[in-house]
Amino acid sequence: LVEPAEPQDLAGRHVVVSAGGTRELIDPVRFIGNRSSGRQGVALAQAAAARGAHVTLVAANLAQDVTDQVRTGERPCAVVQVESTAELRDAVRTAGADADVVVMAAAVADFRPAATPDAKIKKVPGQGPAPIELVENPDILAELARERLRPGQVVVGFAAETGDASGSVLEHGRAKARRKGADLIAVNAVGSGRGFGTDTNDVTVLDGAGDVVGQAAGTKREVADALWDAVVKLLP
Ligand code: CTP
Ligand code: CA
Repeated sequence: LVEPAEPQDLAGRHVVVSAGGTRELIDPVRFIGNRSSGRQGVALAQAAAARGAHVTLVAANLAQDVTDQVRTGERPCAVVQVESTAELRDAVRTAGADADVVVMAAAVADFRPAATPDAKIKKVPGQGPAPIELVENPDILAELARERLRPGQVVVGFAAETGDASGSVLEHGRAKARRKGADLIAVNAVGSGRGFGTDTNDVTVLDGAGDVVGQAAGTKREVADALWDAVVKLLP
């Protein structure tokens, strides 16, 4: 037996990680989605498994190479495949009922079409496109933080931000940390080639009050391990 190279500080723990991006059907063949590949979430799942955790990966539409990476990973994860936000919510809450930690690394669609017709929407010659009415999805992370499916459960989220006129990446992340009520929020800058689909990441880790408790940059696996270091400190 080979000596494990990683600290086994998640041994005996059940962790749930959501990864990828949810899709909301407009009709049977079209959807609203986002650019998340699932790379950071899968790195989190694999890092946790290497540290001894029993891992449930809730996988929403991972990029093909990321799916392959899960299949060939050195330690197994239980994988639940989902597409929509409603499916992801159900899967996370089912697996989360006995979890020590839930990490919401998935990019969740904020809105979904109010209705999905059974038949493909056809374009009518001479008529412009019909508007698509959207309704807001439940905030899964905020629900998990509020309800705590299991006493003492550690709840972790991500905040993908671009700076804008109303605030910097960190300012937006801090406001989000306070709003969500999670124990930890990993803030990362996205857009213009950063964050999505790349092999590296750069995150600032905030606590629920919005105070900086950590910083990590490097491969998504290195960022994952830094995040688990912060989680381990919060485990009872
Ligand atoms: N999240 C969630 N459910 C949603 C939307 C987001 O659980 N309906 C989670 C994401 O998985 C992530 C965190 O909340 O861990 C932050 O997601 P983000 O999209 O950055 O925040 P929002 O609250 O949706 O705010 P906005 O998109 O307006 O910045
Ligand atoms: Ca959002």
